[in-house]
Amino acid sequence: MKRNIIISAFIIITLTFSSCASRSKDEVEIKIDDLLSEMTLEEKIGQLTLFTSSWTQTGPTMREGYLNDVKQGKCGNIFNAHTAEYTSELQRIAVEETRLGIPLLFGYDVIHGYKTIFPIPLAEACSWDLDLIEKSARLSAKEAAAAGLHWNFNPMVDISRDPRWGRVAEGSGEDTYLGSLIASAKVRGIQGDDLKDESTLLACVKHFAAYGAAQAGRDYHTVDMSERVLRETYLPPYRAAIDAGSATVMTSFNELDGVPASGSKYLMTDVLREEWKFRGFVVTDYTAINEMIPHGFAKDTADAALLAMKAGVDMDMQGGTYLLHLQDLIDQGKVQEAAIDQAVRRILKAKFDLGLFDDPYRYSDVDRENQVVLSKEMMDHSREAGRKSIVLLKNDAIDGKTLLPLNKKPKQLALIGPLAHNQMDILGTWHASGDASKSTTVLDGIKEVAPDIDVVYAEGCKTYGEDRSGFAEAISVAKRSDIVLMAVGENYRQNGEAASRTNLNLPGMQEELMEAILDLGKPVVLILMSGRPLTIENLSQKVPAILNAWHLGTKGGSAIADVLFGDYNPSGKLVMTFPRNVGQIPIYYNMKNTGRPFKAKDKYTSKYLDVANDPLYPFGYGLSYTAFEYSDLSLSQSTMRLDEDLNISVGVTNTGSRAGEEVVQLYIRDLVGNVTRPVKELKGFKKISLEPGQTQLVEFTISAEDLKFYNQDMSFKAEPGDFLLYVGGSSDADLSGKFELIN
Ligand code: NOJ
Repeated sequence: MKRNIIISAFIIITLTFSSCASRSKDEVEIKIDDLLSEMTLEEKIGQLTLFTSSWTQTGPTMREGYLNDVKQGKCGNIFNAHTAEYTSELQRIAVEETRLGIPLLFGYDVIHGYKTIFPIPLAEACSWDLDLIEKSARLSAKEAAAAGLHWNFNPMVDISRDPRWGRVAEGSGEDTYLGSLIASAKVRGIQGDDLKDESTLLACVKHFAAYGAAQAGRDYHTVDMSERVLRETYLPPYRAAIDAGSATVMTSFNELDGVPASGSKYLMTDVLREEWKFRGFVVTDYTAINEMIPHGFAKDTADAALLAMKAGVDMDMQGGTYLLHLQDLIDQGKVQEAAIDQAVRRILKAKFDLGLFDDPYRYSDVDRENQVVLSKEMMDHSREAGRKSIVLLKNDAIDGKTLLPLNKKPKQLALIGPLAHNQMDILGTWHASGDASKSTTVLDGIKEVAPDIDVVYAEGCKTYGEDRSGFAEAISVAKRSDIVLMAVGENYRQNGEAASRTNLNLPGMQEELMEAILDLGKPVVLILMSGRPLTIENLSQKVPAILNAWHLGTKGGSAIADVLFGDYNPSGKLVMTFPRNVGQIPIYYNMKNTGRPFKAKDKYTSKYLDVANDPLYPFGYGLSYTAFEYSDLSLSQSTMRLDEDLNISVGVTNTGSRAGEEVVQLYIRDLVGNVTRPVKELKGFKKISLEPGQTQLVEFTISAEDLKFYNQDMSFKAEPGDFLLYVGGSSDADLSGKFELIN
């Protein structure tokens, strides 16, 4: 009898909602209000609560009994539960066994793929290919949605200038302009044009805000910066994601200016809702409300829940503080029920937008899951995205000939290193449900792409520890070979969350192994696989060829082989500066000049005694198997009025003998400002493809909008004055022009 009543309750809601898809927005709001009026306070608080399933652990705590929480209407949202079968099972409990039958929302970290894994975000950003990045987000949403998921905790858009921070792997690097474009592309990819489309997910831009500026690169550490830096460098990518329609926002763990983000009314209400008009819902990061106690900001969990609610946080991830305390806080008059209703309304709206009230099981379709997950479409894209993410850092000629690309004709090749034949590490950090058994390793890739080559593999050592027992075998394999490929770097746990490092050399015995192999005097190609820029100055002086191959995902090995043998001409450009050593950090291309810029002859200038100021490899840098020449930079005018556009054109010629792609980059420098300006700022880029000998005229347009910054009064304005402009294939671009901005 009870079950019948419950089912009828769901049917009433379903009927009321089912035909809403075609109705106007106001009608939807009315239906949500009707549902709200049926809900008890406990049921409302349940909608503000998100717990992890026991399938995966992505934070420090687990909660026993989440199934009971769902049954009792105490938990309206679950993360880390997936597959069509399991999500259906959980959804059935919510829909059939709770009084109102409100469907669950299923969230997951599909950061660079669900089961088919694409390159880590830092790698993929190096493609500078926004269509490719959007497609990766689109396909990973499609795969995840087929496995019952509704909500992706992605994109992570935290700007970071500190490679000690392990989470740089999840972001798009150091630049705000590029990072903002990538943020929008990812939201478009994840959410598509219509959230009701069964292959789209809700996006969740994170971690709001400025999480990437953790002091000394130590994860979860303090963030403190001027409001100018916050607004100019760190906030724009979040804003871009929200302007692109991101349905949700995740708070960050860090404090900012003394206030933990999850308790910051300034961030969650003043900036997000009032300035940026964000209309979706805000979820905390994992137990971030509770963490306001050790931060020294809340005295207990009740206080923390109150602070989060007052700041404007709608949903508590994993902390259970809303569940435990909101009822009391209302009884005590500290929180108004209207505030809770507002948060519930936003969450119900998201469920409605996904069509869950039409059919709560629409994402959990076993047939679709079988067709889509690990399909050819996914695998092909993994390879394509992988190739485009690789950055060729060095390719010196030996006896007049570069080592790369390798010849496919039979030769003896040695492939050495702990990452040469490892199916798990190539998937990288945050690889969701990535199926390592489907990964192609570097060894597999070489055998696939160059089947006639005789390749011998030796692990040599691990990526950790002090064991040198594999050195002898590696050395003997290398001795017998014509060319040695070394696949070394970080394993997938040596970067990512809670994986900060202070020493960015190759971990474990790998540096020593490299030296031992280099001592043999054979030509060596370094295939560097990692989740962050590593400090490889020493090796870069000894090795003729270096491919930065990051962690490229399921088809990473094929992608690397495609580049090694020249089936794909590398086109990636760094989105994060490679320091010479850790002491240079933070080091980034758009720094300030200082009052005493470095001059070799003057002692009292800004420099180090033991290392140069410039990085090993700058932002925007990356080689190709062909060469590009820049010429004929021309500006449409030498003065530009505030209401005018400036057109810039430059000729780019492929002077080599292979077709190739080049990322043509435009930088400006504002010479004098009411506040000082960086030595260079990226303002545009175009990725072009050129046949040997072909020249293309590449055009850019900039307006005063591109020249704005926050002045001393914190007004965002462009200032009349002189500007320099640089065009080239990296942030070291030196082909320059000048213009004056006038009133
Ligand atoms: C903590 C991480 O900071 C966040 O990025 C992630 O989405 C959540 N855990 C959920 O797994």
